[in-house]
Amino acid sequence: MKFNFLFFRFVIILFDISFLSFALTQNCIDIPNPLNKTNRIIRPCHIGKPSNLKSKSKRDENDMCKVDFTCNISDGNLCEKAQKSLYDACQNISSILILKKQITISATFLADSSNYLGATTPSRFYLLRSKDGIVRAYPQALAKQFQLELNDTLSYDIEMIFNPSYEFWFNGDEPISALQYNFFTISLHEIFHGLGFMSFFDNSFAVNYGLSSESISPLPELTSVSGGELFEGFIETIFDRFVYILADSSEPENTKINSFTNITAEFNKFGPPPKNYSNEIEFLKNLSDSPQWKNLTPYLYKKATLQDSIIFVPFNEDVSNGTFLETGIAYNPGSTISHVSSNKYEDTSDFLMVYQTNPGISTESLINEFGDLISPRLKTIMHSIGFLTKDNPIMNEPEPENPESSPSPSPSPSPSSSSTTTNSVTYKNSSTKIYLDTWKLWKFALMILIVYLQTDYFGNFKLIICNE
Ligand SMILES: *[C@@H]1O[C@H](CO)[C@@H](O)[C@H](O)[C@H]1NC(C)=O
Ligand SMILES: *[C@@H]1O[C@H](CO)[C@@H](O)[C@H](O)[C@H]1NC(C)=O
Ligand SMILES: *[C@@H]1O[C@H](CO)[C@@H](O)[C@H](O)[C@H]1NC(C)=O
Ligand SMILES: *[C@@H]1O[C@H](CO)[C@@H](O)[C@H](O)[C@H]1NC(C)=O
Ligand SMILES: *[C@@H]1O[C@H](CO)[C@@H](O)[C@H](O)[C@H]1NC(C)=O
Ligand SMILES: *[C@@H]1O[C@H](CO)[C@@H](O)[C@H](O)[C@H]1NC(C)=O
Ligand SMILES: *[C@@H]1O[C@H](CO)[C@@H](O)[C@H](O)[C@H]1NC(C)=O
Ligand SMILES: *[C@@H]1O[C@H](CO)[C@@H](O)[C@H](O)[C@H]1NC(C)=O
Ligand SMILES: *[C@@H]1O[C@H](CO)[C@@H](O)[C@H](O)[C@H]1NC(C)=O
Repeated sequence: MKFNFLFFRFVIILFDISFLSFALTQNCIDIPNPLNKTNRIIRPCHIGKPSNLKSKSKRDENDMCKVDFTCNISDGNLCEKAQKSLYDACQNISSILILKKQITISATFLADSSNYLGATTPSRFYLLRSKDGIVRAYPQALAKQFQLELNDTLSYDIEMIFNPSYEFWFNGDEPISALQYNFFTISLHEIFHGLGFMSFFDNSFAVNYGLSSESISPLPELTSVSGGELFEGFIETIFDRFVYILADSSEPENTKINSFTNITAEFNKFGPPPKNYSNEIEFLKNLSDSPQWKNLTPYLYKKATLQDSIIFVPFNEDVSNGTFLETGIAYNPGSTISHVSSNKYEDTSDFLMVYQTNPGISTESLINEFGDLISPRLKTIMHSIGFLTKDNPIMNEPEPENPESSPSPSPSPSPSSSSTTTNSVTYKNSSTKIYLDTWKLWKFALMILIVYLQTDYFGNFKLIICNE
């Protein structure tokens, strides 16, 4: 620990990025219940030395997915179809990725009167040090693909729940009715969340601990130790590494693009970690009184509820190539930020990761419309977080490491236009144009379909696809 601490001071001087290495112990973050992603359990996890032996065991391209569907509803036929559909969706995704280890999914039906169709979480995140020196949360399905010895993985990478209160349609069924939801596209959507399309920036910590629900933060790593609570820093996910905050009209003209990683570093000026508190109450009091909490959480809440203000920019790409995340709806921790903007993409080939879906849309009609269900943009996002894809089989940078190994930071990647002095005004109208053009095109293309649905059925067509 002493060594780490010294090193960490040294790094600050060199790179002027605060608190590069605060996660000193090997921890995992488990999220056992997809319907309650605020329930996050931090526990010790053992990560061994990187295994040099490249396991030469032949991997079977047709066996990269395992789906166990626990079926306790009476309609056995429905269960079988759901299992098959989920498996097909997983195979479909695994065929565009290059996987070394099988993806394992546990799914179940849980009838619920609330308006979700499906909900998903990675079962576990491992805290690993990315090549920029910062420790981040990597979902198990991704962490498994690296040359790390994770000898206590959970048997399922991904936990899912589907809600049989709504009528699902499966590939190969009779033509889809205007009330049926396409289980195949919902499965694809949910699997991408399970693979790591997920931010830790939300209000769940605040809500769980009775702070204002309009407080968004990354996840504080707080664990019980003898005689108190050890705070080891705020943690973001590997997805968050590529998320940027754009200036809005209320800010000065020269406001630069900010990044979630910078915000996490700003939060970590609180403490600073590692720091022991005598109990949770002291931690909460000191945190909520801190300038970091008071300034940053409302700033993030404002951005999270302002259209077109948060964007995912793939590794080393220009902001104009980024994908806007959902910030245009009433704040919902399961929908906001961890989805693409519905305003921009719901009627485009990037529709898959918007937070809600229309019924009555068959897989075939989507393929006719868009070609592929998994868009190039989505593939780039998955590649940025660390998956190899058939389109891009080379890692952007060396794999992340065990956080207990020495940090070897390299300059953190930032979108190319943020390294120049481009101000946000110039940026905003150029990119808006790009997206508006695409958007209009598709909006027009799908209009007929939507109008048709609305004349046949009144009421709620749109339901939230997922709580995460
Ligand atoms: C979700 O988990 C949190 C933390 O364990 C708990 O306080 C809360 O009651 C749970 N919420 C639901 C709806 O189960
Ligand atoms: C199905 O199983 C889950 C998990 O065991 C349980 O929570 C749920 O209540 C069960 N649902 C039904 C309809 O039996
Ligand atoms: C994915 O599924 C769709 C629909 O079943 C199919 O047309 C497509 O060929 C599949 N793609 C891959 C790569 O398996
Ligand atoms: C697994 O973890 C334990 C410590 O929890 C460690 O002693 C062991 O060497 C690790 N590796 C294997 C292959 O068990
Ligand atoms: C980091 O975030 C803080 C708080 O929003 C901001 O004042 C600062 O300018 C940001 N720094 C960079 C380099 O973006
Ligand atoms: C926090 O407390 C634990 C248990 O008492 C101790 O082992 C650890 O060194 C302390 N850490 C810091 C940073 O003070
Ligand atoms: C919490 O805040 C109080 C009051 O400012 C301060 O005395 C105490 O040292 C702080 N606790 C820690 C662990 O920093
Ligand atoms: C933006 O994306 C286009 C198309 O994929 C690519 O040709 C171009 O190099 C990208 N620009 C930057 C700066 O990343
Ligand atoms: C972008 O916005 C600026 C300032 O509002 C305006 O002067 C400029 O003409 C706009 N450029 C385009 C391409 O719309």
